Amino acid sequence: MSAIAATQKQILDLKKEKDFCILAHCYQSEEILEIADLVGDSYALSKKAMDMPQKNVIMCGVRFMAETTKMLSPEKHVFLSNPVAGCPMAEQLDYDMLSQLKEMYPGYTVVAYINTTAELKTLCDVCVTSSSAVKIISNIENKDILFIPDCNLGDYKKKQLPEKNIKLVHGGCPTHVRMSLKDVERARKLHPNALLLVHPECLPEVTAEADYVGSTTGIMDFAKESAQKEFIIGTENSIVQHLQFACPDKEFYALSKDCVCHNMKATTLVDVLHVLQGRGGEEITLDEEIRLKAKRSIEEMIRLG
Ligand code: 13P
Ligand code: SF4
Repeated sequence: MSAIAATQKQILDLKKEKDFCILAHCYQSEEILEIADLVGDSYALSKKAMDMPQKNVIMCGVRFMAETTKMLSPEKHVFLSNPVAGCPMAEQLDYDMLSQLKEMYPGYTVVAYINTTAELKTLCDVCVTSSSAVKIISNIENKDILFIPDCNLGDYKKKQLPEKNIKLVHGGCPTHVRMSLKDVERARKLHPNALLLVHPECLPEVTAEADYVGSTTGIMDFAKESAQKEFIIGTENSIVQHLQFACPDKEFYALSKDCVCHNMKATTLVDVLHVLQGRGGEEITLDEEIRLKAKRSIEEMIRLG
């Protein structure tokens, strides 16, 4: 048995014995997806985590995902498998900056991408994810929307919702903005028969060129269901590998070799094992006042989505 398979077996045995479930975002490595009870995009993870019967949860993803799980399931012990795994975008705005923005835009409904800290969520009316944003924003009665913190995702959704007055702030995912129009031109030239599938966190000039724009699971479902055989993938490069394993008769190419999220890649199998052995990870705790205030924006997301 390989070292990877042996570690996976130890994890599977321990998680059963100690009543843990493992949640993994699609950007995690293949070996982590293999031991997860639930794999999904940000929306699926936050929604379905509540229904998992186990009393302990390990989040293989980034900090805001573990915080969201704790917000919705305070009775569970929620662990972030690698404490250094944060999302840089989630920390681009702080409490004071958002308070000032709210003063500048009175009467606006504050819509936050779920990639925000728990503290910031306390100031927001509703959260959205890349897969749920259009539906949720169109279900909000107010026409005036202040969208934080990703101006690229916001710009893409704004184009889909011309009836809304959406104000954006400067911010975004440092991983997805690495992909440029030059990358698109080069990839199209190299793979003229391939469809271009990208995440809405990409720059507007990149999404404008895409054949499909969607969340991580949206991209994966599109590629699996499509009759086409070749795809250029414009999101975190783990998706290229996951799709290649899932669809061996198709070809997948990364739009850019640089689209790697080091935070999502921080988690290893050994990190997961160490949480189960009680010698690693970080148990998420949230101040009860912050949790209750922040939770409202997540509950609104689930209600409107
Ligand atoms: P989704 O999982 O909602 O597609 O978001 C991608 C992402 O960047 C998560 O950090
Ligand atoms: Fe954050 Fe971007 Fe990494 Fe997602 S891919 S965790 S948005 S930095």
